[in-house]
Amino acid sequence: MFHDFQYPTILAASNRAAWQIDDVIGPDATLDFSKPFMPENLARTDRLYMLSAKERLTLNHIRAHEYLSLFGLVEEFILPFVLDHVRADLPDNDDVRVRALLQFAAEEAKHIQLFRRFHQAFTQGFGSDCSMIGPPEAVAEFVLGNDPLSIALFVLMIEWMTQSHYVDSVRGETELDPLFANLLRCHWIEESQHAKLDTLMVEALAAGKTEAELHQAVDGFMAIVGFFDLGCRQQAKFNLDALEAKIGPRPSEADRLELIELQHQALRWTYLGSGLVHKEFRKALGALSLNQLARIDELAPKFS
Ligand SMILES: [Fe+2]
Ligand SMILES: [Fe+2]
Repeated sequence: MFHDFQYPTILAASNRAAWQIDDVIGPDATLDFSKPFMPENLARTDRLYMLSAKERLTLNHIRAHEYLSLFGLVEEFILPFVLDHVRADLPDNDDVRVRALLQFAAEEAKHIQLFRRFHQAFTQGFGSDCSMIGPPEAVAEFVLGNDPLSIALFVLMIEWMTQSHYVDSVRGETELDPLFANLLRCHWIEESQHAKLDTLMVEALAAGKTEAELHQAVDGFMAIVGFFDLGCRQQAKFNLDALEAKIGPRPSEADRLELIELQHQALRWTYLGSGLVHKEFRKALGALSLNQLARIDELAPKFS
């Protein structure tokens, strides 16, 4: 066994870590638009030589808008997925398992609300609209149409990814807007229990599967990754539209195309690559099948 995750300890940790939305962002809180919101490791705006420092900061804010909206969207399919998973085994003699999974779902519902609260503060401060891929219902319909193990693997990847977003990118950064940095910290705290619960979900769904069935589940996982990759590209274009609405059109078409390429890669790293290479995600997949892990390892560099 590569881990010691157990429902009672996860539930206890979750109870200890719980926070309230008002503690993270009060109803009248405002974001400080003189500071970046997203860590540079994810925003990757510093390398955009075709933009001035002020324009890069505006794009950083647009990336934060995208982060809030995209996480809201992702959590909208995680919530029904977790509820379906717990419902399928009811009645269940393991009360602690049921409570831990229901708490997981409740926390995701709280996160959706938290991201919306931040989105509201963003819109008030930014002053113009930023387009987003979606709608969330269509994304949820596509994702939830896959094999439950494919979905559980994708959700597991997202949970570990949020861990690295805070630990590798935000912790120690002093320049960020404190409210936004605290959002990423609070999300990290609760998501660390989710990552463990997801590991247990993946194990339960993979139990007894043959190599051919695991191969099929990883096919489904890769299809979801491909779907989000297309979304990342479209979102990079939307982000540029939002930037141009603020600063005026880019002077050259070549600059425009290069900016979209560079930012597409930044989004890929933020939402896919940083999860695909996460050591805990790789451990969970490797415990199921080293062949399937090798397939993911082959895919990962495209998203780095
Ligand atoms: Fe969450
Ligand atoms: Fe989560």
